[in-house]
Amino acid sequence: MKVLVATEKPFAEIAARKIKELIDAAGYEAVFLENYKSASEFASAVSDADALIVRSDIVSAELLDAAKRLKIVVRAGAGYDNLDLEACTRHNVVAMNTPGQNSNAVAELAFEMMLYMARSGFSGKSGTELRGKTIGIHGFGNVGRYVAEISGGFGMTVSAFDPYIAEDVITGYGIRACKSAKELYSECQYISLNIPFNKETGSSVNYSLLSGMPVPAVLVNTARKEIIDEESLLKMFAERPDFRYLSDVAPDCKALIEEKYSGRFLFTAKKMGAQTEEANSNAGIAAINQIVDYFKTGNQKFRLNK
Ligand code: 3PG
Repeated sequence: MKVLVATEKPFAEIAARKIKELIDAAGYEAVFLENYKSASEFASAVSDADALIVRSDIVSAELLDAAKRLKIVVRAGAGYDNLDLEACTRHNVVAMNTPGQNSNAVAELAFEMMLYMARSGFSGKSGTELRGKTIGIHGFGNVGRYVAEISGGFGMTVSAFDPYIAEDVITGYGIRACKSAKELYSECQYISLNIPFNKETGSSVNYSLLSGMPVPAVLVNTARKEIIDEESLLKMFAERPDFRYLSDVAPDCKALIEEKYSGRFLFTAKKMGAQTEEANSNAGIAAINQIVDYFKTGNQKFRLNK
């Protein structure tokens, strides 16, 4: 049984070592493909793999065509917009993710970016504090809940909105539950985006929501760049001098923003949210454990496709 760990953005060394130990302990063969440069390199590595672990690596119908022996793919992480689930089903491949395993790292990154911006990029210029500011959490899943917890520690006033989570779950965290995204944005100076990217959420963070934000408006995106409507983003930068955008990773219109709005944005060069030793270890270990469990007992608890 061959397990391919294909990570264009490699796991921390300590995490890769633990994953290998668990693959060895199960009596399987471990193969690591890191920093690969093309889809064809990935396709040739997966051709004789029985199981596959990926991060944001693209698992497309074409890749699955090449993966003749593949039975299971596990996305070591939460968001699975990189997996073609219908193609997985057509190819009889079980697709899973590892929800919750890297959420704290992503929530911490939101605050790291917020603090950097609040303190004027550590430039020596006077900045602002987080205490007493309002923060709205858009999406109250695993990451949103950690953001709520940390926001409380900073003395922020916290609200959340999630159409799929019951209000009493949100209020159970001692924070306010909003009835709509519009209400959330109209009340909060900071908005933390913690929603997945899918057909429903693509370009859904738009001018109608953003323009309602009170001053100063700081949008923090540790989710996916695709959930933002970029025309609206540019309009906000142009119309609202108080508007700041902090994003893991940069939008497609990055060059325009860099040219005109210096000091009002922060973009990571590569997706950084889950780039900690702890998150890599948690997600990677969960992924290999799920694979071993699937082969040994048939457990499909984290299955995403039908
Ligand atoms: C996730 O969805 O789990 C995070 O965005 C992490 O993505 P990454 O594994 O590519 O860093």
